[in-house]
Amino acid sequence: MKKEILRLLREKESYLSGQELCSRLSVSRTAVWKAINQLREEGYQIESASHRGYLLVSGPDRVTAAELASRLSGCPFGENIIYKEEIDSTNIEAKRQAEAGAVHGTVVIAESQEQGRGRKGKAWSSPKGTGIWMSLVLRPEIRPERAACLTLTAALAVSRAVEHVTGLSAQIKWPNDLVINGKKICGILTEMSSEMDFIHYVVTGIGINVNMERFQEELPFATSLQIESGRPYIRAELAAWVLREFDACYQDFLETGDLEKLLSDYNERLVNKDRQVQVIKEGEQIQGTARGVNSQGELLVETKDGTEAVLSGEVSVRGVYGYV
Ligand code: BTN
Repeated sequence: MKKEILRLLREKESYLSGQELCSRLSVSRTAVWKAINQLREEGYQIESASHRGYLLVSGPDRVTAAELASRLSGCPFGENIIYKEEIDSTNIEAKRQAEAGAVHGTVVIAESQEQGRGRKGKAWSSPKGTGIWMSLVLRPEIRPERAACLTLTAALAVSRAVEHVTGLSAQIKWPNDLVINGKKICGILTEMSSEMDFIHYVVTGIGINVNMERFQEELPFATSLQIESGRPYIRAELAAWVLREFDACYQDFLETGDLEKLLSDYNERLVNKDRQVQVIKEGEQIQGTARGVNSQGELLVETKDGTEAVLSGEVSVRGVYGYV
């Protein structure tokens, strides 16, 4: 009920009468009053005035299930949200949930992660209350070799959402990162449980640096949206936009079973495009010019010997001039 009350108060933007809340939610005045008090205890500032009703003035910067779900009505990724203050890793929890039968579209989100995981066994710094640390449980009916496209789908969704909410242009560094001004603001880690020709589940984990004011020296290539724009953001608003955009991109992906419908937007946002890149493929270094990705999600690298199509997951890419 808290999520419904939040949604209705947010939609109204002015006083909403207790009577209307009761009839829209088919509950008693006492039930509404109790839920409003619970929300106040959680840090929401809700004014009440006799004969006028309730007004949502402000809320805490939290990414709780109610905060997210109240912004995601009608979106499948708003139906089953698991929120934790603190967790080992949202990817690990999403896998536990998936093994236990969690439905497609389940979202695990946390305020902080103690064992945030990056690609290739690296750690992912996930301090409390500053970023978006979330993982999606997906059960796509596609061939396992196409699952790598889901990372690219998520990257496009984050790029679109960041642009919508902040106005900043977050470019995609194929295949897993998003960068602003040459520094990383987001990393994506996709993991899968499958047989040769059948996917049990995919977990796509998304980490976005939102409101950090600085990073330790060990992370010279990291930045946050706040550092880049000089202002903080409401994380729940951004997380909800990411999930909405992901839903839209995912539908496009399923329609064709590849990235065809997403390709032109993806390539426009690709920071590597037409730049010198160095690809490490099966231990061998290839140097060339990135020309974009194809509908299978492969990076097309023009070398002196022709064009190489490089599959994500097999390689790491570094611009020869530094991080991008
Ligand atoms: C990378 O750039 O190496 C990928 C980083 C992925 C981090 C996210 S944060 C949410 C989810 N949970 C994790 O433990 N990792 C991913």
